[in-house]
Amino acid sequence: MILNTELEYKGDLFPATITDYKKDVDVLYFSTSNNVILQLTVLRDSVLRFRYTTVGKFDKDFSYAIDQNASRGYNHLEIDDDKEKYIITTSKLICHIYKSDLRNSILDAKDGKIICQDELGFHWEESYELGGDIVKMSKAAQNGESYYGLGDKPEHINLKGRRFENWATDSYAYGKNTDPIYKAIPFYTALHNGKSYGIFFDNSFRTYFDFCSERRNVTSFWASGGEMNYYFFYGPKMQDVVTSYTDLTGTPELPPLWALGYHQCKWSYYPESNVKEITNKFRELKIPCDAIYLDIDYMEGFRCFTWSKEYFPEPKRMVKELADDGFKTVVIIDPGIKIDMEYDVFREGLEKDYFCKRADGPYMKGKVWPGECYFPDFTRPEVREWWAGLFKELIEEIGVKGVWNDMNEPAVMDVPGKTFPSDVRHDYDGNPCSHQKAHNIYGMQMARATYHGLKRFNYPKRPFVITRSAYSGTQRYTSTWMGDNVATWEHLQIANIQAQRLALSGFSFAGSDIGGFAEQPNGELYARWIQLGVFHPFCRTHSSGDHGDQEPWAFDEEITDIVRKFIEIRYELLPYLYTSFYQYHHDNVPMLKSLVLFDQEDTQTHYRTDEFICGNQLLVCPINEPNSKGRRMYIPRGEWYNYWTKELISGGKETWVDADLDSMPLFVKAGAIIPKYPVQQYVGEKDIDQLTLDVYYKNGKEDSEIYEDANDGYDYTKGRYSLKKFNLAGNGDKLIIRIHKRGKFLAPYDTFKINIHGLPFKVKSIKVDNEYVDLKDVQFKNNTLVVTKEFTNLQLKAD
Ligand code: GLC
Repeated sequence: MILNTELEYKGDLFPATITDYKKDVDVLYFSTSNNVILQLTVLRDSVLRFRYTTVGKFDKDFSYAIDQNASRGYNHLEIDDDKEKYIITTSKLICHIYKSDLRNSILDAKDGKIICQDELGFHWEESYELGGDIVKMSKAAQNGESYYGLGDKPEHINLKGRRFENWATDSYAYGKNTDPIYKAIPFYTALHNGKSYGIFFDNSFRTYFDFCSERRNVTSFWASGGEMNYYFFYGPKMQDVVTSYTDLTGTPELPPLWALGYHQCKWSYYPESNVKEITNKFRELKIPCDAIYLDIDYMEGFRCFTWSKEYFPEPKRMVKELADDGFKTVVIIDPGIKIDMEYDVFREGLEKDYFCKRADGPYMKGKVWPGECYFPDFTRPEVREWWAGLFKELIEEIGVKGVWNDMNEPAVMDVPGKTFPSDVRHDYDGNPCSHQKAHNIYGMQMARATYHGLKRFNYPKRPFVITRSAYSGTQRYTSTWMGDNVATWEHLQIANIQAQRLALSGFSFAGSDIGGFAEQPNGELYARWIQLGVFHPFCRTHSSGDHGDQEPWAFDEEITDIVRKFIEIRYELLPYLYTSFYQYHHDNVPMLKSLVLFDQEDTQTHYRTDEFICGNQLLVCPINEPNSKGRRMYIPRGEWYNYWTKELISGGKETWVDADLDSMPLFVKAGAIIPKYPVQQYVGEKDIDQLTLDVYYKNGKEDSEIYEDANDGYDYTKGRYSLKKFNLAGNGDKLIIRIHKRGKFLAPYDTFKINIHGLPFKVKSIKVDNEYVDLKDVQFKNNTLVVTKEFTNLQLKAD
């Protein structure tokens, strides 16, 4: 017991006066008289990294979050000082570091206005219990400031006025405002006076964020251990903040196109005859579906990498038969390895000493589905290598195409805290530490190892992995879902916010358990949820077995027809969704855009939760309430076509939109060119012999893109892709479409079928690449025409 009250509570400590300054290329060091050092790295003109130590030297610099390929380099860097401060100037920012107390202010280099400023700034509390510091940072909140991001929080899209914790937690049937849940993504974006900046607190300990909740004018973040280590990103456009963060923490490679199809899951489909019954029914009812999932019951006593002999006697044959019918098999793999000397994965892990241990030596033992388990220490490179190797049979031999990593927070049953005790040791890639530091990245490292296994054994096809837990950067390896939600209308709304929030947090490839995991939706709720889900990057129905059936046909015929109709729309839109994935992969652009990200200058968007943009040009708004015939929604500024009626409407206002159960509010941006495939029952079912382009006329200009490649494999990384940039320009009696092409991929089709919507004039003449063509030669009829895919310039005129 500590009796000395001074030792017991030291309170907050602060940096003293700066006594030394050093510069090492793009890294600046400011040291204070009380052993605090600020290491300030100028990563880019708009990206700064702040790292503090309180003991006069830094530990090894290591982070799982940062992508090794992140951009670095600036155009301009100038450092001055005056009596009170150091002044660091880049082409975008001016950063002041105050000599008296190490606080900083960051200003816009163009207009000199404050973007973000320390309130108390960096301070800390020594914690004897933790054996380290509780590192703290507080920033002055600006007038009217709003906050977005933080991963999967089931909260209002605007985080202002709330406090959050980041500690990956198994959260069965969580609710609105439950915090924390499965993921820890300590990144937020702020917006005030039309300008946006972001902060990524790269600290894997338990972290906290307070957005003007404790004090109205202060935003703060702190961690129970580790370093105060954060990145500052300046926009001023919010999209640039998000893309900078995403560039730093990375994006995934392109997924196989089938992964953007519809997935069907349940806890659990077994035995084999049940799986076949489900897949056959999809084909019989002509509801497109690309993936079928096997939950824990496919295994022998929940032992990972085994198959139940009773339920799945011949997995290889079954997986092949499913594949012949267009279904990719995805199986669950959890981290807990059953303690069983007869089980080779366990024996090998034990022999090689790959399992996590308690501080005093014994293995970390905990109960999960298989009973008592040990858990691989995925933070050791050789363990990840071993784990990746375990997938050989499953992937290479049996033909499984995707792996679902669950319970990786890590979840442990029947213990307080539902996870490992904090004394458990981890290697942390050669930086040994306790679970307090490794907890939030455990699931990420598991998914990383899984991804490498799939990539190796599925080569030359692309891997597909889905994880429940994640830390910043996890998006490089895997897709994700929001865990065990509930079949309620409120959860439909939460799913919408979570998908947007994850996209704003660098993690676009996400979706919810459509219809809800716990409890059972009625047909109406399921239909409304499918309508939302088909516009999420990841689209899967999943439910827990004890609550009845949740397949598209589990309700009544009307619902089945509605579900089919919307899944068909998703399959038509596959080239559009794939292009959006490419923009995410290549340009770091989020696949879903909350209205605030789409148009931050319009203050009406700052608190909008339901409406969002899918890709760049589709405006989506789910129906969140039963018995609705439509809803009021905000149409962002600009001109939009109602997807169903093709009626043109001007935005910047709230309006009522009709939407019977078989419809939903859906709009297309004027000027957009939307590529469409024919409906297929699964990706690759049909040869695409023509690509449809839905052109939405605009009086003015609009750009669109279409990305294509072989839809799987790695040829695209060798230049065999096709990126077409379309410029559309309309001026009342003329419509011009120009294409600029890049890449060596030859699309399998020869022609585009172009459907023009909203054309305000009657077409008299058409020019393709500056040559007049006979209207009959391009099969012109009702504003539809067929032209060669090689065209670079198309003109339609009223005379
Ligand atoms: C967890 C998962 C859920 C899965 C279940 C059984 O609750 O979140 O998706 O079906 O475990 O494996």
